[in-house]
Amino acid sequence: MSNARTPDHPIDPQFTERWSPRAFADKPVTHEQVLTVLEAARWAPSGSNLQPWRFFYGVRGEPEFDTLLSLLVPFNEGWARNAGALMIIASVTSYDGTRPIRTHSFDAGSAFMSLSLQAHAMGLVAHGMAGVEYDKVPLVLGMPDNLQVEAAVAIGYQGDAASLPDALRQRETPSQRVPLDELVFKGRFKGEIKAPV
Ligand SMILES: Cc1cc2nc3c(=O)[nH]c(=O)nc-3n(C[C@H](O)[C@H](O)[C@H](O)COP(=O)(O)O)c2cc1C
Repeated sequence: MSNARTPDHPIDPQFTERWSPRAFADKPVTHEQVLTVLEAARWAPSGSNLQPWRFFYGVRGEPEFDTLLSLLVPFNEGWARNAGALMIIASVTSYDGTRPIRTHSFDAGSAFMSLSLQAHAMGLVAHGMAGVEYDKVPLVLGMPDNLQVEAAVAIGYQGDAASLPDALRQRETPSQRVPLDELVFKGRFKGEIKAPV
């Protein structure tokens, strides 16, 4: 099967060109670059403009990076240790303890996509990770109870797939997507919900 990503309808190439490699080049990512990526995230839309996203980051070579690395499951720790920066995205579940923010995770997801596309525009890659030690994160990072851990992100310059162990090297290629007509309903739901193969 070809690895080319061909959209069903014409779209800006950034959407198909962005992907999530696991091989990173041994090239540092600066604080300024991380802050630029997060600046894009800051401008994401959110329900009632409540901006519930919160970001914790560290750049490789500094202690915060090692702390974040220790919060990943071993599978992710194995490849993400070579990233230039690591990040945890959390979201505020309620500002006042009484009114829940219904869309906090949705909003944090928007921020993640914004930062991913900004990274791509800068020649970087951003790889999301749910393989996180969710129970440990709030304790280690000192999060208050109204912050929910969403996911981690590895950011860096893409490296050579040859640097990966065999099993990961074989998977180091852009993935495909379910056809649009299986996802879109003009009016009422039709068909069945199928997991992607
Ligand atoms: C919320 C989220 C969690 C993910 N968790 C992991 C993970 O723990 N480990 C991993 O290697 N990739 C992880 N990924 C990467 C996905 O597998 C990847 O985004 C998906 O296969 C689509 O591929 P693409 O990003 O290259 O287009 C995650 C992505 C997202 C958005």
